[in-house]
Amino acid sequence: MPIQALKGFKDLLPGESEKWVFMEKTARRVFQTFGFSEIRTPIVEKTDLFIRSIGSYTDIVEKEMYTLTDKSGDSITLRPEATASVLRAFIEHNLQAQQPVHKLFTIGPMFRHERPQKGRLRQFHQINAEYIGTASPYADSEAIDLLVQILDNLGLQETRLRLNSLGCPECRPSFASALQDFLEEYKSSLCPDCQRRLIKNPLRVFDCKVERCREILADAPTITAFNCPACRKHFDQVQELISQLAIRVELDPRLVRGLDYYCRTTFEVSASHLGSQDAVAGGGRYDGLIKQMGGPDLPAIGFAIGLERAALLLPTQEEWIHRPFVTLIPLGEAARDKAFHLLRSLYKKEIPGFMEYEDKSLKSQLRRADKAKCPYVAILGTEELLKGRIMIRNLNTQAQDEIPIPNFLDYFLGKYIEDQGDWCKIKGPEPQE
Ligand code: HAM
Repeated sequence: MPIQALKGFKDLLPGESEKWVFMEKTARRVFQTFGFSEIRTPIVEKTDLFIRSIGSYTDIVEKEMYTLTDKSGDSITLRPEATASVLRAFIEHNLQAQQPVHKLFTIGPMFRHERPQKGRLRQFHQINAEYIGTASPYADSEAIDLLVQILDNLGLQETRLRLNSLGCPECRPSFASALQDFLEEYKSSLCPDCQRRLIKNPLRVFDCKVERCREILADAPTITAFNCPACRKHFDQVQELISQLAIRVELDPRLVRGLDYYCRTTFEVSASHLGSQDAVAGGGRYDGLIKQMGGPDLPAIGFAIGLERAALLLPTQEEWIHRPFVTLIPLGEAARDKAFHLLRSLYKKEIPGFMEYEDKSLKSQLRRADKAKCPYVAILGTEELLKGRIMIRNLNTQAQDEIPIPNFLDYFLGKYIEDQGDWCKIKGPEPQE
């Protein structure tokens, strides 16, 4: 039996991987506009990093981490998210000494041991942004604007952006105890997980998917009612700025996030036709986290987009599939040798070319070029070779041209420039207005 990939780990095959390239390229372009620089961190970290930052009583830390003991006996974990690693690197390299505000992005794989299903993998990919060093509501609205711009440029439609304020360490404890008091009455009806959450981390009950728990929560107190004046003012300003940017957002006082480090502004983007795993992106402010991790007391806000889920929302685009601009069709040994060098001359000028090295009939080589939607074939038979010429056929118009072999490269350079050089470039849907 051949060995297969692990459950929840997916290969990205040609035809699909182009979507990823498109998403990454698009995000990089928007990040550059917003002044973000790339940071790349290792995918493995000390386990304590995630326990300290994400929170001991979260699903991620309690159930989902890929944790193992390495040969030196250290507990290490494949990163379940990027924020903790980015902040660890930020603190370790003392980046705040260089400048007060940092805008960092990272793109890469994350690992969570969840039950695999549509849009939920054990290795998945995130586009992740962290905006460190400012507590201003302008930063919140800029982060949300950045997220919306990336999603718009990806052409994702019919998404909902929900917004909440989770308050701060000043006001959240009074909400947590009001919630505990409320839930205490229904304790015996709550699922076992929520009964545990009630004691350890009551806000997590809002994450529960069990129908009965959801029904109970419908009447539960909501956090915004408990926000202190400073948090309320901040949230009002964020909403005002977002509305000035004409970003459509729904207030959702029940939105909590699956990680414990958030405070104040939190948000999530979902798409209903994704099914039960409908969150495409999520993020929020995490003002106390950097200090809690042993770094300077700096406020920050960030978000992550899940690429597998975003990819499910992208239409399949034919032009994403790489195809040659010119297929060389040699007929016979001597012609193949000449064609091989002509192919290389195309490659050197970055013109996508293709030729088969096996003996195939003209008909079969033409069929293959046609199937690949290649616009030009260059046929080199023994007769043409003797005359020093090569036959060009445009497969879209069927027009034919016979040119001297030495003119081959200039001919296609001209054609490729005429096509604005974007023949094989990766394109996506047009951005929405
Ligand atoms: P998160 O909500 O845990 O946030 O993940 C962000 C996105 O990653 C989700 O909305 C979803 O699209 C995707 N995602 C999560 N788990 C899976 C999975 N098992 N399979 C496929 N996709 C998944 C964070 O990770 C925070 N670090 C975001 C953040 C950055 N907050 C501040 N800065």
